Amino acid sequence: MSDLAIDGGPRAVTTSMNDSWRDVSDLEKQYVNYVLDNKDDAYAELDKFEEAYRAFVGTKHALCMCNGTAALHSAIFAAGACAGKEVIVPTATWHATITPILHCNATPVFCEVDPETFCADPEDVKKRITHRTCAIVVTHLYGNPADMDAFLDIVEGTDIALIEDASHAPGAMWGGKMVGSIGHIGCFSLQEKKPVSGIEAGVATTNDDDLYDRMLALGQCGRCDALWQTDRFKALRNMGLGVKYRANPLGIAMARAQLERLPGLNEKRMAWFGRMDSLLGEVPGVAPQKTYPKARRGGMLLYAGTVDPDVFGAPLPIIIKVLVAEGVYVAETTAWGYSAMHLEPLFNDFSFDDLGGPWADLSAEARRPVCNLPVSERLQDMSFWLATPVAPSAEWVAQTAQAFAKVVAHRERLSEIANGF
Ligand SMILES: Cc1ncc(COP(=O)(O)O)c(C=O)c1O
Repeated sequence: MSDLAIDGGPRAVTTSMNDSWRDVSDLEKQYVNYVLDNKDDAYAELDKFEEAYRAFVGTKHALCMCNGTAALHSAIFAAGACAGKEVIVPTATWHATITPILHCNATPVFCEVDPETFCADPEDVKKRITHRTCAIVVTHLYGNPADMDAFLDIVEGTDIALIEDASHAPGAMWGGKMVGSIGHIGCFSLQEKKPVSGIEAGVATTNDDDLYDRMLALGQCGRCDALWQTDRFKALRNMGLGVKYRANPLGIAMARAQLERLPGLNEKRMAWFGRMDSLLGEVPGVAPQKTYPKARRGGMLLYAGTVDPDVFGAPLPIIIKVLVAEGVYVAETTAWGYSAMHLEPLFNDFSFDDLGGPWADLSAEARRPVCNLPVSERLQDMSFWLATPVAPSAEWVAQTAQAFAKVVAHRERLSEIANGF
């Protein structure tokens, strides 16, 4: 076994990924150009995309938005989140799954995630339900579906809305059903790095006319009149409640082409994820993110897993540093969010008192959510992501896995590095 690269040995990864995160073809350009050339009704693109997305996810409605954050805000608002209500949300997610709860003046209640799948833990969620709970948001983290049977059982016979944050997971399935069609509302980001990208865009899906109208009312001024499903909001005419979360048709045109290409892109991602899973699964102390038996991954925003600091002989930051020196394109999951969000300053010591909107009026619990989340905090100290292109070279996959094997074989040296030698 050669020396670690950090000690001057040869790098384990010598080949490039030979691919990029986002795959853009002539089809995206063709659809975007079509909108540019349509001088009379560029917004017709939104209708086309919504029709395609409804068919893809299998819901009655799809409503496109300017981004995924707007989709989540609309969904959480539609679920009736307001002062005095609580929304349960996993701590391991992007902040946009959580912050809309505060924008509704409601209280986020963080729950644990399952340390193997990284998705909200249903048993822990059950313990956090109160008479104030109006919604549960689950994130299909990195394209890996949460345990939807368990969550459907939890909300059955209650008024609690089940919202799926499927931003990472277009095309993922639970028991043969597309994510985004299983809970009451599905939310998808179509941001630049996402598996269906419009650079900046989003979409929400639902089968429920009332929830659809509420989302429409919040953010779709200008489109409402043509789209209202129920009589309730018609008095608001095209204005709705006046916020404008409408999508830009140029981004949506790009996303429509990406959606058509998604099955092929997902297959490519699935193929290398499978290879990486089996190679890394052989390395002591490494555990790739697991998938529930009824789930099928889709979208696959990030390849994630855990490294056990006890087996590697050093804490996570040292393991990552040594892997990076070996040429592995790897980072701690804290690098971009997605970890223990309840530890963020926003939920701890940040002062809101002079802010506008609902912020100055947030309740004490909303400002400082009470958190006891040891499993998720431990997961944060073990988890990593790899760069996640669509179809990297087989050699890159093999060398990346070999680098983990090389590093763990040097566990004694890692302990020395951790101790400053
Ligand atoms: C899980 C999750 N939810 C929501 C969002 C927000 O989406 P957007 O950036 O399109 O507003 C993101 C963005 O990265 C995300 O990862």
